[in-house]
Amino acid sequence: MSRELWEREYLEHAISSSTNVRPSHGATFVERHLATIAAVDGPPRLLDLGCGGGRNVPVLEKTGFDFHGMDYAHRPLVRAGRFATRLVQASMTAPLPFGSGVFSAVTAFTSVENLRRDEDLRVLAGEVRRVLCRGGLWLVYFMTPEDTYYRPLIEPGFGDRSLTHDPVTGLRQRVYRVAELCDLFGPSLRLLDTEEFAFTDVRSAGTYERRLAAGLWRRD
Ligand SMILES: C[S@@+](CC[C@H](N)C(=O)[O-])C[C@H]1O[C@@H](n2cnc3c(N)ncnc32)[C@H](O)[C@@H]1O
Repeated sequence: MSRELWEREYLEHAISSSTNVRPSHGATFVERHLATIAAVDGPPRLLDLGCGGGRNVPVLEKTGFDFHGMDYAHRPLVRAGRFATRLVQASMTAPLPFGSGVFSAVTAFTSVENLRRDEDLRVLAGEVRRVLCRGGLWLVYFMTPEDTYYRPLIEPGFGDRSLTHDPVTGLRQRVYRVAELCDLFGPSLRLLDTEEFAFTDVRSAGTYERRLAAGLWRRD
């Protein structure tokens, strides 16, 4: 169901990530960690989960790693095809279609929000751990409950989980705190660094104070 909503979103363009061709704010977190990424002693390959139309490819290629993009929607992958990259259409809720230990870095820019169940996040973390080499890095850029676009969309009754429903796109998502993700990723993915992002954004014809965060985890 949500895959169809994303396919539609890439036609109708209600939200900025599906129209924006500039790298996302989270890409600066990657740039700040280029030396840490280069120091990983593993295969020179990077996997971007929920890569969308590939707007972060130019920054991710600065790692010097071979870029692999994965998204479950077809339309953005057609757009991402303008970059000379390897792309695969697959879902983050299924076993990742890659061998074990084949990546030095895995990234996700505003895509893990689409996994709402703790179980899905835990399974994904296990899969990320499997495809990463020892010492490999997992970098996630995500929306937080303080984001003024998402805050009013948080549905009551889900306890500590901030589950959202966006009436504009129809998407049901989840916004996270760093501590929540640390808990879901488990002790074998160790947090190295975090950064908070605050900026003003125009979305669905309104102006919002966006509050996102990024985290960098290392696979022990
Ligand atoms: C907000 S967009 C972000 C795209 C890109 N990372 C960016 O920063 O522009 C979220 C992307 O995640 C993809 N996505 C959502 N759920 C997914 C899933 N279960 N498996 C793979 N991709 C998924 C959507 O198709 C969409 O392209």
